[in-house]
Amino acid sequence: MRIIIIVAVATNGVIGRANGEMPWHIKEDFQHFKKATMGSPIIMGRKSFESLGKPLKGRENIVVTRNANLNYDFDDVIILHSLNEAIEYCKLLNKEKIFITGGGEIYNQSISIADEMIISHMKFEAEGEVKFPEFGMNEWYIDSKDDREQFEIITYKRKS
Ligand SMILES: NC(=O)c1ccc[n+]([C@@H]2O[C@H](COP(=O)([O-])OP(=O)(O)OC[C@H]3O[C@@H](n4cnc5c(N)ncnc54)[C@H](OP(=O)(O)O)[C@@H]3O)[C@@H](O)[C@H]2O)c1
Repeated sequence: MRIIIIVAVATNGVIGRANGEMPWHIKEDFQHFKKATMGSPIIMGRKSFESLGKPLKGRENIVVTRNANLNYDFDDVIILHSLNEAIEYCKLLNKEKIFITGGGEIYNQSISIADEMIISHMKFEAEGEVKFPEFGMNEWYIDSKDDREQFEIITYKRKS
């Protein structure tokens, strides 16, 4: 099972605002995200899930929280209480790949265990308090690049 981080990052490292909002809305990037993740489990932090407001269709939505009492009125959302628990749960699903879909706290905790990162590098700076962690190319190599008008999608794979 490959653990894949998928994220969109501005040139200054920003991925979101403290109030949960995304600083930009680019349809082409949402389409890329949808196509990449469709059919696979997605793991996200409670704050990112709440900023979405509802589960994403066609994917098993796994939300992590430290709050033992958290519950949502959605049948198709799994709530778990650590990142490790979420990964172990996914292993039981026998899926070829799972996606880590944010936000900042969850990316910070998962970058050391991810096998791949699919990063949409936006071609602009953005205002926001939440950033993607810095990473060194000593641990990663570039597997592919896909240049679009407003962003470039780079797939990084972990060096073995
Ligand atoms: N640009 C992108 O691609 C992208 C993608 C996703 C999100 N975002 C942005 O990122 C921002 C949200 O990121 P964030 O860092 O504020 O929050 P987050 O990572 O989405 O969620 C943080 C929450 O996750 C739970 N959590 C974190 N680590 C945990 C652990 N080890 N075990 C159990 N629960 C854990 C906690 O929930 P409790 O407080 O309930 O315990 C914590 O408050 C938003 O602005 C959003 O728009 C951007």
